[in-house]
Amino acid sequence: MASGPEHDDEAPSLASRVLDLLDDDLLGVAEQSEGNVLPETASGADTPEEVQATPEEPLPEPVPVDEPLHEPPEVMPEPSPSPPDGDEEDAPEPVESSPAAPPKEGRKGRKFKPKGMYLGRRRDTDEPVDINPSVLARHAAMLGSTGSGKTVMAKALIEEAALAGIPALIIDPQGDLARLALGGDASTIEAKGEDAARMRRLLDSTEVRIWTPLRSKGLPLCIDPFHAPPADLDPEEAITAWDMVAAGFTSLAGYDVEKAQGKTIKPYLYEVLVQGTRVGLDVADFQSLARVVREPHDAFLRHLYPECFADHEEDFEGEAPQLPPWTVVAGDHGLTDFEERLPKATRYELARRLSAFSSGVNQLLFSNGVPINIDAFTEPAVPGKIPLNIVYLNTIQDENQKQYFVQELSRELYDWMLTQQPAEGELKLLFFMDEVAPSLPPHPRNPPAKDLIKLIFKQARKYGVACVLATQNVSDVDYKILAQANTTFVGRFTQPQDVEKVRHLLKESGSDVDLVGQLPTLGPGQFQVVAPDVDENPFPVQCRWLYTDHGAPLSEDQVEDLISDDVRRWARSRSAGAHRKRGGGGAAD
Ligand SMILES: Nc1ncnc2c1ncn2[C@@H]1O[C@H](COP(=O)(O)OP(=O)(O)OP(=O)(O)O)[C@@H](O)[C@H]1O
Ligand SMILES: [Mg+2]
Repeated sequence: MASGPEHDDEAPSLASRVLDLLDDDLLGVAEQSEGNVLPETASGADTPEEVQATPEEPLPEPVPVDEPLHEPPEVMPEPSPSPPDGDEEDAPEPVESSPAAPPKEGRKGRKFKPKGMYLGRRRDTDEPVDINPSVLARHAAMLGSTGSGKTVMAKALIEEAALAGIPALIIDPQGDLARLALGGDASTIEAKGEDAARMRRLLDSTEVRIWTPLRSKGLPLCIDPFHAPPADLDPEEAITAWDMVAAGFTSLAGYDVEKAQGKTIKPYLYEVLVQGTRVGLDVADFQSLARVVREPHDAFLRHLYPECFADHEEDFEGEAPQLPPWTVVAGDHGLTDFEERLPKATRYELARRLSAFSSGVNQLLFSNGVPINIDAFTEPAVPGKIPLNIVYLNTIQDENQKQYFVQELSRELYDWMLTQQPAEGELKLLFFMDEVAPSLPPHPRNPPAKDLIKLIFKQARKYGVACVLATQNVSDVDYKILAQANTTFVGRFTQPQDVEKVRHLLKESGSDVDLVGQLPTLGPGQFQVVAPDVDENPFPVQCRWLYTDHGAPLSEDQVEDLISDDVRRWARSRSAGAHRKRGGGGAAD
């Protein structure tokens, strides 16, 4: 799919992108393994009927997500025989030989030694789909109804990115991504015609960390809403970043930023935060912020002219100096007339709500564990490992708090991203959000998380952050944002309105297969892939079997058992004295 109109990157022509790819190792793989998806080398296309999913065949119901572990779903199509000579075995990349059971009859020679990210096989030609990780820099989306295999497809991407040395930050609303911490089973992998040695390499090289907001079963993770934008942002970035902070507090206090009251409260908080930080006023915890919000002029005056207040009288001989009028103070210090911006009653109510977050259960979200810090997410606890961070949201019961958590996490990611300077083509992080619909409702709804995700999506490429989003809800999601993903995996859709929504993506297809017509009959793990960076035409894919476990969501107790002592120790060291200084990103007033 081509970049959408809002994409800030100039989309190079398809020809130049294909040429870019040809420059890469990918061509080497293509030539040596017959295994790629570039159109020029799509050999083996002479036997499509053997491997193509036949739409006429009645498709069984998708396997429910709580299917027992490792059980292959009945509908996983049998791979077709290998191409003549099975010369994929001769691919050059040295891979340890597998001590596991030899491949079963009929799968001999199917093992493929990938150069890039190996995602599965084409269903029309049976060629392995091996794409350069840099393709992810232009983001990806997984679409498909429930059970279509979106999470599995995303996990395959995450596994492959990890094998390529790219850490991940994963938002796991259901708890099934946490199963990335459980290794697959070598005999199943071999039986699926995959390479168990590659699986072991993945398991040995990664460090899966399951973060549990509010709870200490996994690694406790909390929000630091007072963490200011980095100090070195340019003025525009700083304004946007502070706006996000203000939006966060507004929605946390229970005001809808899209409604009239929220629309006056957010800019008020913005001014209090930005101007307060600039003049050195303490607005860095809920109590202090509430105090300034309640009586802003008094708070600023006390800070700027302490000598005029009774508590400092002893510092002066005789009478305390007179306070200048606010207009003079405002002029001298570049301050706004805060009290005009919000009626007293609203200020008091807002202050009351904000200060409620400094005590009781409410404060756990902000104090229990390691404050979200993307540097920590990309740093391994054990040197040399690739960190995969899973933020397990099941520990937050309240839906609003869940959304707020996602929003703050996205904000941290956005701020962090702006400070990155990746080398050409380097990917620093893979950010995956499963079931993104609650954060990305369609127009005209515009919650703060949506603004952030939109910004991240637009700018992430130049900072080396690859975004992958999944949803089953193409009708209840801001499709315009998703449509900016340059690679889209379209899985099973049975509802005509959903098919309609994605039809345009699949209109051109190099093969004879009716990719749109197949949508209602696709099985789990079968996708129509739209990836102009890989192939100018959409192509049908069967996702490879996972190297990690997939199945029912993990319970908190299961999560607890999966955290190693090393990782716990490391997390404790990150939470000790973890209060970060405000960066004071200087927004222009
Ligand atoms: N390549 C694969 N490896 C392992 N399991 C697979 C694969 N492809 C499909 N499956 C099966 O498909 C089932 C459903 O996949 P998955 O959980 O990814 O669906 P989903 O589209 O994310 O559904 P939901 O929208 O309900 O989250 C899995 O439980 C699994 O049994
Ligand atoms: Mg899923």
